[in-house]
Amino acid sequence: MSFWKELKKPFFVMAPMADVTDAAFRALVAKRGAPNVFWTEFVSADGLYHTREIAKMPDSENPLMRDLEKSDAERPIVAQLFSSNPEMMAYAAKLVAELGFDGIDINMGCPDRSIEKQGSGAAMMKTPEVARAVILAAKTAGIPVSVKTRIGYNKESMEEWLPVVLEIAPEALTVHLRTRKEMSLVPAHWELMQKAVEIRDRVNPNVRLIGNGDVTSVEEGTHLVAETGCDGVMIGRGMFGNPWVFAGRKSEDTPLEEKLEALIELAHGFEALTPKKNFSILKKHIKAFVTGFAGAAELRAKLMETESAAELEAVIASAAR
Ligand SMILES: Cc1cc2nc3c(=O)[nH]c(=O)nc-3n(C[C@H](O)[C@H](O)[C@H](O)COP(=O)(O)O)c2cc1C
Repeated sequence: MSFWKELKKPFFVMAPMADVTDAAFRALVAKRGAPNVFWTEFVSADGLYHTREIAKMPDSENPLMRDLEKSDAERPIVAQLFSSNPEMMAYAAKLVAELGFDGIDINMGCPDRSIEKQGSGAAMMKTPEVARAVILAAKTAGIPVSVKTRIGYNKESMEEWLPVVLEIAPEALTVHLRTRKEMSLVPAHWELMQKAVEIRDRVNPNVRLIGNGDVTSVEEGTHLVAETGCDGVMIGRGMFGNPWVFAGRKSEDTPLEEKLEALIELAHGFEALTPKKNFSILKKHIKAFVTGFAGAAELRAKLMETESAAELEAVIASAAR
């Protein structure tokens, strides 16, 4: 049976986030309060396909494989893929299934121009036939398939768009409550979640429906599920500086020392688990963990200059003296 069916309402899931939800960050979150479902960063299905089928290089040598590292502490875990090419999606989905992932999520909401140029991400909302074919291709891998999308492209158009996905019966559908045009510039339209629930109930009540956008605590998410009737909530930026979020903690509830310890652990984990990634990726985490106390700006500025976990740890130790 699919793990999606076993989740009790309200459930809370980790948002897929490029250069954030890597193996090191997921390990940090897993230790402090696991979400009901983990997500990887998005990975290009075409990139996975080209390496073997065209460049004839083994998958193990593909640099994209570093984004598909995982540990058994993070279960269930879904790999997010993007592609507008069914053949390449089928290839990548099979690979992800062989790697032992519990599910595949298809990105149909990313507004990044380089992704949209490939017809992927949010651009899929403009090509329903392609979206259908890509979901069906992912399903051939035999593990649960879910979709993450938005409420529309230029304007809210859930009535036309959501049935395209729901009719193919993914196991779950995440709706980021903004249009492509709105990017992340306006507050998420949670007032529209009930409409999404009505469409799901009418078109395919078996699909688990997840709301996403601006939620920063389990408490807030629990209210939203009760109010709107969706099944679960996905939390993204609310994890920044707060890897305890799924344990029910609010960011302000954690003492500074514990936050700095978490940052040190993340930096060491980052070096150990993602050795090929650039240390500067940690800057967003430094900003998020080192904030809201006297001397934060000064410490943050020093930490931004560090280039290794040992250096970062030494700067924090000397600040504590
Ligand atoms: C740094 C960053 C990276 C992201 N990467 C992805 C991604 O790889 N795949 C995806 O579907 N969404 C991605 N998103 C969007 C988030 O998953 C989420 O939909 C969005 O941030 C809104 O949720 P939030 O308000 O809880 O953060 C990203 C967002 C941010 C801020």
